[in-house]
Amino acid sequence: MLQLSIIIPTYCEAENLTVLIPRINAALSDASLEAEIIVVDDNSPDETIPVCKSLAEKFPLKLITRENERGLSTAVIAGLNAAAGEILLVMDADLSHPPEKIPELVSALNQPHTDFVIGSRYVEGGSTDQSWGWFRKWNSRVATWLSRPFTSARDPLAGFFAVKRHTYLKARNILNPIGYKIGLELIVKCRCQNVVEIPIEFTDRMAGTSKLSFKEQLHYLKHLKRLFDFKYQNYAYFVQFALIGLTGVFVNLQMLALLSIWLISPVAVALAIWTSMSTNFLLNRNITFSYAKHQPFWKQYLSYCGSCLTGAVFNWLTTIVLSRSILFFEKRILLAAFIGILVGMGFNFLLCRYLVFSKHKPAAETPATEKELRHTK
Ligand code: GDD
Ligand code: MN
Repeated sequence: MLQLSIIIPTYCEAENLTVLIPRINAALSDASLEAEIIVVDDNSPDETIPVCKSLAEKFPLKLITRENERGLSTAVIAGLNAAAGEILLVMDADLSHPPEKIPELVSALNQPHTDFVIGSRYVEGGSTDQSWGWFRKWNSRVATWLSRPFTSARDPLAGFFAVKRHTYLKARNILNPIGYKIGLELIVKCRCQNVVEIPIEFTDRMAGTSKLSFKEQLHYLKHLKRLFDFKYQNYAYFVQFALIGLTGVFVNLQMLALLSIWLISPVAVALAIWTSMSTNFLLNRNITFSYAKHQPFWKQYLSYCGSCLTGAVFNWLTTIVLSRSILFFEKRILLAAFIGILVGMGFNFLLCRYLVFSKHKPAAETPATEKELRHTK
């Protein structure tokens, strides 16, 4: 089997590829590595496609052109799926990642227990470009810090990494990334325990412009939520459900303060409860249980109201039983009420998770169909 596949996603990188591919080839020859280079291009309007075709005459390069899809992560997955190598290495086309480091990444991955290797900016000896201003540095650091619950790697958002084929195959059918952070997606979904980081000097792109937009940064937050749900499952749903419950308390009190100006209190209290229940419903439908967002709205809303009512009944029952039958709670009604709230919320959560928002969408989405992949060469 072929030792190595190098996957390079591209969008308008003609100028950079003419420099990168010969440099990769030189690095491979020096280390006697046998490899294929797979460029996955999203039908770039510049010269990327003709440039690849002419490079393919001289170097072991395969071009995959996707005509109906755009996006870095899905492009990388298309490349990984088409790769024949034992080791799968991904890097950018813009010369930000030094190709001379490829052999070092490969040999690190060849160590018995290593299952993922990163060309890292944030370990000793690694660096980012000198020209980065404070905002870019800060932005990158915050994004990296947000990935902390998933991995102890210092630079899991890097686009320069390598993984063994059999590790990748474990997660191939459950990948569901959006945006740019395919490396993090792989670390989490392949359940990589042993991530090794090789320091690299990251330099800003040689030519062209970055495609990392503000929209991609928002996608990253969405991606983090998906990974959070994947890794922590019901704990993750419960945390989101509880936080949204907390926002409901504020909505309720705010509405009550406002409505009390015009309405008598029984009506104002009822309307405040109804409003907060509804905002909680919308937030839970769109965030916590977003996998069930496509189900009929009104049916879901009514069953949600039923679930809240059930929760309230359990809350009431617990509080009454505790404060009436246990001496300790007789004098501590607020503590009994607090326990009642927890019990009610627990019931409400279980009903929501398994009844109101019941169906769990499958985690996998086929990244690219065969039809969309047109191989040249
Ligand atoms: N096929 C395809 N489709 N390739 C794309 C697309 C796309 O929609 N968008 C970007 N690319 C390619 C670029 O051509 C380049 O080779 C690589 O993906 C990285 O894109 P850049 O636009 O250069 O991204 P960046 O430099 O801002 O982001 C880099 O650093 C991030 C961390 O700071 C990348 O390495 C990211 O992966 C990394 O997360
Ligand atoms: Mn770049």
